[in-house]
Amino acid sequence: MHNTVKHNSESLIVNLTCSRCGKSYDADRKQTVCTSCQGTLFARYDLERAKSIVSKEDFLRRETTMWRYREFLPVIRTSNIVSLGEGFTPIVAAPKLANQIGLESLLVKDDGLIPTGSFKARGQSAAISRAKELGIKSVALASAGNAGVAAAAYSARASIDCNVFMPKDAPISAKKQCAQFGAKLHLIDGLINDCASKVVEGKDEFGWFELSTLKEPYRVEGKKMMGYEIAEQFGWTLPDAIIYPTGGGTGLVGMWKAFDELEALGWLSKNERPMMISVQASGCAPVVKAFQEHKNSIERPFENASTIASGLRVPFPFASDQILKVILESKGVAISVSDQEIIEAMRNFARSEGMLVCPEAAATLAALPKLSEQKTIDRKDTILLYNTGSGLNYLELIA
Ligand SMILES: Cc1ncc(COP(=O)(O)O)c(C=O)c1O
Ligand SMILES: [Zn+2]
Repeated sequence: MHNTVKHNSESLIVNLTCSRCGKSYDADRKQTVCTSCQGTLFARYDLERAKSIVSKEDFLRRETTMWRYREFLPVIRTSNIVSLGEGFTPIVAAPKLANQIGLESLLVKDDGLIPTGSFKARGQSAAISRAKELGIKSVALASAGNAGVAAAAYSARASIDCNVFMPKDAPISAKKQCAQFGAKLHLIDGLINDCASKVVEGKDEFGWFELSTLKEPYRVEGKKMMGYEIAEQFGWTLPDAIIYPTGGGTGLVGMWKAFDELEALGWLSKNERPMMISVQASGCAPVVKAFQEHKNSIERPFENASTIASGLRVPFPFASDQILKVILESKGVAISVSDQEIIEAMRNFARSEGMLVCPEAAATLAALPKLSEQKTIDRKDTILLYNTGSGLNYLELIA
């Protein structure tokens, strides 16, 4: 393997490789997307070397954050790690919900309990740590809400100047938190894709490093740790299906990358791969539409995108080819639910299991009866719903 990084830490990162054309890039320098084809760049690690220096048992003695897997994260110098204790969130059983739907085993990975209140913390911890390491002083990103909050918090901790572009009707909690963390909040009259255009327009003039999802190589590395955590928490096996709310898709893509790496390390066997089930809101379901039409990528923005699940309001995800590839390779499906079903599922989650989940995660619960009815999942399957964030950030949705 072409090794561009001199290791003076435990990270085994080797380089960045384009997901489309395979061109490799030096991980010691600032990179966004492939300069030849605009494809997403993914970090590659020396997994052969890993086999002789770290074992699964080593993790048991380490901190209960995602940094317990530091060999497989991109930060070279440990002193550059910007952490608030993110990751290794609990997996809890949801027996009453399982019973309602007629399932034997329903589990919830609960990222309601993570710094900044959503799963976006892992990605931003990785990205801001790397930004610090590469000497980046100013970042900008488009966000539906939660990613902006996480970027703002980690940037504050790293003394990096943070510009968040958010739709002006993003959840009030997200706007207030960004401002409280000292980020510059730019409220845009439009959707997340319009916010992304503003970042592109301003980045050269203002010297911002673009941190929008899958245009920057390291957020997905943090999100990948959702997959490592699930594997370790399941005793180095995996559930039969992971049901995940999809917006920009980094969560799905990140977990699938984790399973690729864990298989290459010999820590997971091939037949452990779960079905990856993508859930969207019917008012903004570009992945579901492309999946139903057997497309390999999304060709144009979903029209009149609208849903109360703000994290799912992504009409034109940048890395749609990667999202669809994961669903197909895993023999999963993409399915949508209505806003009304999401609101009801939020209440059901709270009353049945004592969990105040975000609307995006409530969508995964709302999808379950449909998935069961269409026999995508079997009553005997072990099903993992991903709660991507706390309902406390969406109090305006609670009557
Ligand atoms: C709470 C929540 N869940 C899910 C998503 C969608 O995640 P992804 O972009 O990884 O598809 C978001 C994105 O903003 C979110 O904030
Ligand atoms: Zn390329």
